[in-house]
Amino acid sequence: MSDSSSQPHLIQVPKQFEFDGRPFPAVFDNQQSLTSLAAIAAWLQANQALLERVLQESGAVLFRGFPIDNAVAFDRFSAAFGYPDFTYQESLSNAVRVNLTDRVFTANEAPPEVEIFLHHEMAQTPVSPAKLFFHCHAAAQLGGATSLCRSDQLYALILDQMPQWARKFEEHGLRYTTLMPVDDNLASGQGRSWKSTLSVTDRAGAESQLQGLGYSWQWQPDDSLQVTTPVLPAVVDLGDGRKAFYNQLIAAYMGWAGVKANPAASLVLGDGTTIPISVFEKLVSMANTLTFDLNWQDGDIALIDNRITMHGRRAYSGDRRRQVWVALAAASV
Ligand SMILES: [Fe+2]
Repeated sequence: MSDSSSQPHLIQVPKQFEFDGRPFPAVFDNQQSLTSLAAIAAWLQANQALLERVLQESGAVLFRGFPIDNAVAFDRFSAAFGYPDFTYQESLSNAVRVNLTDRVFTANEAPPEVEIFLHHEMAQTPVSPAKLFFHCHAAAQLGGATSLCRSDQLYALILDQMPQWARKFEEHGLRYTTLMPVDDNLASGQGRSWKSTLSVTDRAGAESQLQGLGYSWQWQPDDSLQVTTPVLPAVVDLGDGRKAFYNQLIAAYMGWAGVKANPAASLVLGDGTTIPISVFEKLVSMANTLTFDLNWQDGDIALIDNRITMHGRRAYSGDRRRQVWVALAAASV
């Protein structure tokens, strides 16, 4: 029996950041108080206003010690928040994933040695989720942390240290050019085929989808598809006095094939201006100073506000395969 007077509490964890007097990430420990899915769902719903406030302030909330040990339980945990679903099938995500329930899917099928660099989920597309849930079903033996970085803090740093570039990013936004392969490529962090990405079966369907989204495109001799986005924001207003460096610049520069050697082929300002290597490098090093590595424990669930906080995945190794699952939520309507 659980003690009815005990409740999950905010706790401190090593190397936690504090911004404006608020912890990042915020961590609720179950304190062994909630022992059933029904009790967890009731607690989440009874405390939803508090949790929403903490999420808005901190940008990431970790739930630790809750008895969640399978995909269905994780699905029910995430459903308790009542957010509208954002499904992988409908998304333009470029990662290859496998669905476990309607809402829950594997975080990324890229091999363990591939680092996934900091990004806002799908910020290189016109349609991105508002919130993300991660659940650690089985922590890696070595590595495999989810890196987390507050983009409002990063933007404040950019404004302070590179004010001219801060203005350019905010004023012009970004355009991304990517290559969608013919077939899913599991060896890549962004290997989803154009048919799967666009939910189509042929070229005509792909072109019609892209046209509707404002993309330009070019078919390649091997039937892969090069696409360029319309101008997307590089900075977003969070509506509470904060602005966030909301884009895919770091992941694209650090992780997309060939981009480091020739960034201008994949990423330019909305007015066509190229971004110098020195600017990319400075942004990466500034983000590194703000990054918290979430070292998973089995059963952990993290709720991330995708507009405020970037995430990534450290490389990992060991016999035990790391399993981190994801559920995405759209903005509440
Ligand atoms: Fe991601």
